[in-house]
Amino acid sequence: MTQLSTEERRLLRSCADAFGTPTYVYFEETIVRQIRSLKEHLDGLPLQLLYAMKANHAVPVMQTMLREGLGIDAVSPAELAYALKLGFPADKVLFSANNMTDEEMHFATGRGALLNVGELSRLESFGQAYPGSKVCVRLNGQVGAGHHAHVITAGDKSKFGIPVEQVDAVHRIAGAYDLTIVGLHQHIGSGIMDTETLWQAISVILDASTSFEDLRFINVGGGLGIPYRPDEEALDMSSFDRLIVAPLKDFIDGHPSDDLSIWFEPGRYFTAQSGILLARVNTVKEGTVRTFAGTDSGMNHLVRPAMYGSYHHVVNLSNPDGPEKTYDVVGNICESSDFFAKDRLVSELREGDIIGVLDAGAYGMSMVTTYNLRSEPAEVWIPAGGEPRLTRPRRSVEEIVAAEMARAL
Ligand code: LLP
Repeated sequence: MTQLSTEERRLLRSCADAFGTPTYVYFEETIVRQIRSLKEHLDGLPLQLLYAMKANHAVPVMQTMLREGLGIDAVSPAELAYALKLGFPADKVLFSANNMTDEEMHFATGRGALLNVGELSRLESFGQAYPGSKVCVRLNGQVGAGHHAHVITAGDKSKFGIPVEQVDAVHRIAGAYDLTIVGLHQHIGSGIMDTETLWQAISVILDASTSFEDLRFINVGGGLGIPYRPDEEALDMSSFDRLIVAPLKDFIDGHPSDDLSIWFEPGRYFTAQSGILLARVNTVKEGTVRTFAGTDSGMNHLVRPAMYGSYHHVVNLSNPDGPEKTYDVVGNICESSDFFAKDRLVSELREGDIIGVLDAGAYGMSMVTTYNLRSEPAEVWIPAGGEPRLTRPRRSVEEIVAAEMARAL
């Protein structure tokens, strides 16, 4: 869990005063710290880091990734087009749409991105359309992991990737269309805190890689977790170094090709801790067994608690030293799954107080909906050593209504 300093709390309160609520605030410093620390741990490996932009595609976030030399994991035509528009070179974008359509295949290929194919039938249609091309293949090594069943992306019951047992078919199709498999990819899940399982999965794909002669990279995916709860340990980076980085270095050293690199593509690890969702408490209500603190935000702005039961720490920025009381911190959406925290100790919440929902910089804004026809939150960017600036305003009632009407046929 991110610990806010007194200065950061002051800054966040000033953002709420200046830009109102609900607002996502992102600290550039945190993103850069996370990227550089991962790079340090992977130092010595021939490496390319991609950013899984589905975690947070805010323009300044993406620009930070670009400045830090990262490529992009894009999973839809709009993600790809947006990354290219921001200046990411096409050869640093891997297009990993699953259950891709023909149109999407042509779109991505036409823009110079390498396709990451996770279905045999798509590999076949790619071969038919683009014989003699390079392609990456997503394998499912059957080892999955993640913070919730909904985010596990490998294993028998997962829709992702070509089962590693079907590698022969991959070779057959590649041979039939003269495709060069330049990359192998896996992504086993999200919010992984257990490096042993991650290594197990990586070793399956490394084993499978020995039958591919023209590989330029092995992409071991994202998934690195961050601690959300106050009592949760961070990912153990010394075991990451020992269990993952060291054997990867051994693998690379022993590999016949000196042109092979290892790719990682985290999303959450880079951005989650940089983001705080600011909301205002409008209503404090004593129920019969619960005290509800109702805010001007909700599951439309941060769906993770409703969707996965995820924990996000909630701090009262207006009254940080008040006596602690137990609350259900809820939103203004007409659903009972609309909550940030249940049965949670927070320093006394009063109507008008500003709360910060922490570690919300990944899969927060990028999963926003306009359910109940409420606006998306605003976004504020705090550059390292600079002043907060509004990078995306909320929409007014008039703008929302006009946008809906304009879409009607
Ligand atoms: N690569 C691929 C192919 C992915 O599908 C994902 C995430 C990533 C990389 C990045 O995973 P990360 O490093 O961020 O864990 N909405 C969920 C997370 C779903 C992740 C989907 N794929 C959540 O809020 O926890």
